Amino acid sequence: MTWLITGGAGYIGAHVVRAMTAAGESAVVYDDLSTGVAERVPDGVPLVVGSVLDGERVARALTDHAVTGVVHLAAKKQVGESVELPLHYYRENVEGLRVLLTAVTRAGVPSFVFSSSAAVYGMPDVDLVTEDTPCVPMSPYGETKLAGEWLVRATGRATGLSTAALRYFNVAGAAGPRMADTGVFNLIPMVFEKLTQGAAPRVFGDDYDTPDGTCVRDYIHVVDLAEAHVAAARALEASPGRALTLNIGRGEGVSVREMIDRINALTGRDLPPTVGPRRPGDPARVVASSDRAAAELGWKAKYGVQDMIVSAWEGWVALHPEAANA
Ligand code: WQD
Repeated sequence: MTWLITGGAGYIGAHVVRAMTAAGESAVVYDDLSTGVAERVPDGVPLVVGSVLDGERVARALTDHAVTGVVHLAAKKQVGESVELPLHYYRENVEGLRVLLTAVTRAGVPSFVFSSSAAVYGMPDVDLVTEDTPCVPMSPYGETKLAGEWLVRATGRATGLSTAALRYFNVAGAAGPRMADTGVFNLIPMVFEKLTQGAAPRVFGDDYDTPDGTCVRDYIHVVDLAEAHVAAARALEASPGRALTLNIGRGEGVSVREMIDRINALTGRDLPPTVGPRRPGDPARVVASSDRAAAELGWKAKYGVQDMIVSAWEGWVALHPEAANA
């Protein structure tokens, strides 16, 4: 199969490309390079520079490369920014998807894997989030992912397109320094940034109803997440007409305080965090049940939090060499 991977020059997308090609599939990257990095695309994998909003360019890429499946990751992904710029988020994430699906169905491409998010659940009031937990997104970003899932599923029902929506939990780590996340929008890189400045990491609220009062999340190594895409792609290929919706997490909750302690230990620092006010919109606990992904795909995460921190730190130091001596 030849998979068009939109957003394949991005942090997660580049790991998907790597996992797909390692599994013997052909890959073509489609990316507008707005946040993607061309150097992340491996040698031998074609890179088409274009936006998913450009239907003609997408259509040409599908036929030029005889694409037989699409993994769609190209999207805007900052929750806070989505509150400021909802029109931009709906255009990029929902309209971009609509344009892409139009080209995909016209070209008769049979399989479509969609990058969704635990943000579709909003503030889930359960110990383990299953795919049947109600979706009540709390941000325009989460709304665009839920609307995207609906659009993908409705298109599948109407046209026979085989679909999988993968709901990512908190993604971290890297397959190598060049593959690391370049943004500073999540807990681990935000702690790294503070450590690099010789400053104390910040905890956004320690009065949550959790064991140590800080928020609990389900962190998943990006390499495991990428493998879930390979498994989903294979599942669609093996049995056409499917419509999968799957949590991709590890089912293990880690608190903000635990994460900061482990980062301090693994990077050889000792900067205890300062506690500030809650960040608006943060749910106390979001931990996946990944039973369905295991049952449907035979997929299970292999890496733990230590691998995520160590590989993320290597990537951070490669980008910020001063961090090594800070
Ligand atoms: C984790 C926890 C913070 C920084 C977001 C999106 C989600 C998905 C992943 C895109 C929270 C706390 C953070 C810091 C802290 N995005 N924190 N100090 O909010 O769980 O998920 O990213 O697909 O949709 O919502 O991730 O890494 O921002 O925060 O205390 O300096 O760490 O309050 O409890 P989040 P995060």
